[in-house]
Amino acid sequence: MAIRLRHGYTNGTATDGRAVTKEYLGPDADRRRANEIAVLDAVGGILPVPPLLDRPPGAIVTGFVQGTHGQELLAAGHAREVLGICGRLARRVHAVDSALVPGLGTPKAGEVLVHGDFGPQNLLIDAERWEPAALLDWELAAFGDPLHDLAWAEWIVRFHHAESAGEVGALYDTYGWTPPWADRHAAMVRACERLLAFVRRWNPEAVAMWKDRTRRTEAFTA
Ligand SMILES: Nc1ncnc2c1ncn2[C@@H]1O[C@H](COP(=O)(O)OP(=O)(O)O)[C@@H](O)[C@H]1O
Ligand SMILES: [Mg+2]
Repeated sequence: MAIRLRHGYTNGTATDGRAVTKEYLGPDADRRRANEIAVLDAVGGILPVPPLLDRPPGAIVTGFVQGTHGQELLAAGHAREVLGICGRLARRVHAVDSALVPGLGTPKAGEVLVHGDFGPQNLLIDAERWEPAALLDWELAAFGDPLHDLAWAEWIVRFHHAESAGEVGALYDTYGWTPPWADRHAAMVRACERLLAFVRRWNPEAVAMWKDRTRRTEAFTA
């Protein structure tokens, strides 16, 4: 029997306990599926990602990875550890040789492999060793600005785990670069605007929510 997984925000994701089937829903589903396949095919030996077992039409099947979801660990008070893992892992993602991922096209000068929906919301953690078990959900992967991944992880913490916002420095300390606040803030607002544009195409009921989130993000202070 397939059980629908928690913490899935966009697609239909279900597991039988051994494999996970992710069916792509919504706009650009084919493109998003192709992105995720391009990355999983390329980085299995380099980054902690689930094994790609099968690629039926409109879906992928990955091996089920044991681990605790990053947001559950944040909620349990482990922000420093979780954000440290995020910072170190983002550094590794952004260092991947672009030639290994031809399915994403060719990077322009200064562009790196960007996960596209980076943060504790797509991370499974081995909470005994405090190591990443799997970085999931590569459907928005692209060559782009590394700031996007960092700022989006910061947004997830500030917005959904506000009690841990004071720990966000651990993300940048472990990454090894703290972009200026104005740049991080602008990137967070841009990310909300992108999601607003996405839901306008797919889920009109969510438009008011993303307008409100964008406004509240504009009001963030350092
Ligand atoms: N290979 C996997 N092993 C274990 N859990 C997984 C796996 N793939 C996905 N999940 C779980 O399903 C959730 C949703 O998958 P994800 O790829 O993030 O889809 P969505 O685009 O809907 O967010 C993840 O946050 C995670 O909790
Ligand atoms: Mg996800």
